[in-house]
Amino acid sequence: MTSAVALLLTILTCLLLLCLVYICVLIYSRLTQPKADQIHDHTYLIIYASQSGHAENYAKHTAEQLQQAGEHCVCINIQDLTADQLKQAQQTLWFVSTYGEGDAPDSAQRFQHQLSQQTLDLSHQTFAILAFGDRRYRNFCAFGQRVQTWLNQQQAQPAFNLVCVDQLVNADLTAWHTQLSQFTQTELKHTATEKVWIDIHLKSRSLLNAGSQGTGLYFLSFQVAQQVEWHAGDIIEIQCANSNQALKSFVNEQSHLNATHLEALRFKNLKNAPNYVLQTTEQSTKQSIESWINHLIDLPIREYSIANIPTHGTLDLIVRQEIGNQGLGLGSGLLTQDLQVDETLRASIRHNPSFHLKMQDTPCIFIGNGSGLAGLMAHLQQRQVWGYQQNWLIFGERQQQYDAICNAELSTLEDAGYLPQLDRVYSRDGQAQSYVQDVIIAKSTQLKNWVEQGATLYICGSLHGMAQGVEQALIEVLGVEGLAQLKQQQRYKRDVY
Ligand SMILES: Cc1cc2nc3c(=O)[nH]c(=O)nc-3n(C[C@H](O)[C@H](O)[C@H](O)COP(=O)(O)OP(=O)(O)OC[C@H]3O[C@@H](n4cnc5c(N)ncnc54)[C@H](O)[C@@H]3O)c2cc1C
Ligand SMILES: Cc1cc2nc3c(=O)[nH]c(=O)nc-3n(C[C@H](O)[C@H](O)[C@H](O)COP(=O)(O)O)c2cc1C
Repeated sequence: MTSAVALLLTILTCLLLLCLVYICVLIYSRLTQPKADQIHDHTYLIIYASQSGHAENYAKHTAEQLQQAGEHCVCINIQDLTADQLKQAQQTLWFVSTYGEGDAPDSAQRFQHQLSQQTLDLSHQTFAILAFGDRRYRNFCAFGQRVQTWLNQQQAQPAFNLVCVDQLVNADLTAWHTQLSQFTQTELKHTATEKVWIDIHLKSRSLLNAGSQGTGLYFLSFQVAQQVEWHAGDIIEIQCANSNQALKSFVNEQSHLNATHLEALRFKNLKNAPNYVLQTTEQSTKQSIESWINHLIDLPIREYSIANIPTHGTLDLIVRQEIGNQGLGLGSGLLTQDLQVDETLRASIRHNPSFHLKMQDTPCIFIGNGSGLAGLMAHLQQRQVWGYQQNWLIFGERQQQYDAICNAELSTLEDAGYLPQLDRVYSRDGQAQSYVQDVIIAKSTQLKNWVEQGATLYICGSLHGMAQGVEQALIEVLGVEGLAQLKQQQRYKRDVY
């Protein structure tokens, strides 16, 4: 046999193997997709609509706990929900978040535009909804409320009133768990307490955009234990904390507090903290100080897109300073100013499956601005490790002279052949000013071409301006239907804030 024939045979064998793997994946995904006939009278059909993973995590935790208690559950992403499944279910539990400006998460587009346009008889069904939201937005938990209205219109019966969770506060989640435990007659644990906290140590911090018209943008590198795992697209939750200096000056002002109280106060909101009332005896003072500290409000958590993949035990972030009337924001102030090198933060990694990469060699188009480069850098690193070269980055900032952030890293990717298309655009560079959405329009033929080849789009950065502009431009290029199809096929993924 000549070497040419041997080579041909090897290539054919490889192709055959690839086809087999593809067929197996298809069969597996069909088998794991729950059918309506898997839903029995006693099944809890658990549906989640999540943009950044909270609602999905809570739904999955609840399903696990109900299953452990011997209940039968089917847990599905709202994008896979069918009318047959809904008609079959006697009991549905909905975990849904609100995104954008009172919008549904991207994964709920088909539900919004198709399923919820239908009229179904769901009079046999009892439902409960946990709506995730944030009161700082004008349309608090609007999507959860729309789901409730629709279910009511289909004659489904609420097991109890819609529960809205404001920024994951414990009181709201406790209200949900109490009512759900009663409804399911199962002792459900409060899943919020199951967050896994890790310590991360700041190793270095550098300003990326000295001289910029924008606020400071910093690159931070943390040391983490080797066993800490995450995927490109995941998010780190940072527990806001008082700096050592803020703690010391607070304790100095309060004569009844001593150095041992410092640690207990680290994660407490000391601004506008109610004054401690002095007690008469030493014993009552000790107890009442502990109780006073326990009653202080906890500082909030802030979320950041992880900017690298887990190699070498470091975890990187790109953080923009948020500056308002009261000075630096809590999270960005802590990360970019108060925290000193070698100091430690309490953090928790949150998996964000809706922004994960697919392990397949189809093209990817990455679009973002500012700190949004974080989520996109992690993806580019992962694609390089997998050996997938067809990557296109469209990235916007203000001025080339000051804001060409991470140039060296992007050039290395270009030189290695992992970034054949790079469009850096600047919005404040005199005549040449341009936004990422302008690139989408200007290069529409190429973009359509990549989409036809199966490209997935990843958008990371600011919702206002960037992500909204990108969505409009994509509608212009691909049409409303074209974009809806991408969303349905999970080929339009966003981590925007
Ligand atoms: C999924 C996701 C991923 C994200 N990824 C990133 C990322 O990779 N990089 C990044 O930089 N950001 C990211 N963010 C944004 C980040 O989570 C924070 O929202 C951002 O850092 C601002 O938070 P802060 O605590 O600094 O500001 P805040 O404390 O929320 O303050 C915001 C503004 O309000 C003002 N303010 C604060 N308290 C008060 C008050 N009581 N009254 C009046 N004004 C007040 C502050 O001065 C500030 O100007 C992400 C967000 C999400 C949801
Ligand atoms: C860009 C953005 C827009 C949001 N818009 C709203 C909103 O309009 N109304 C609301 O109640 N909450 C809003 N939220 C808050 C989210 O609903 C809340 O953070 C929720 O916990 C996210 O859940 P998820 O991770 O499952 O998507 C928004 C959050 C982000 C990041």
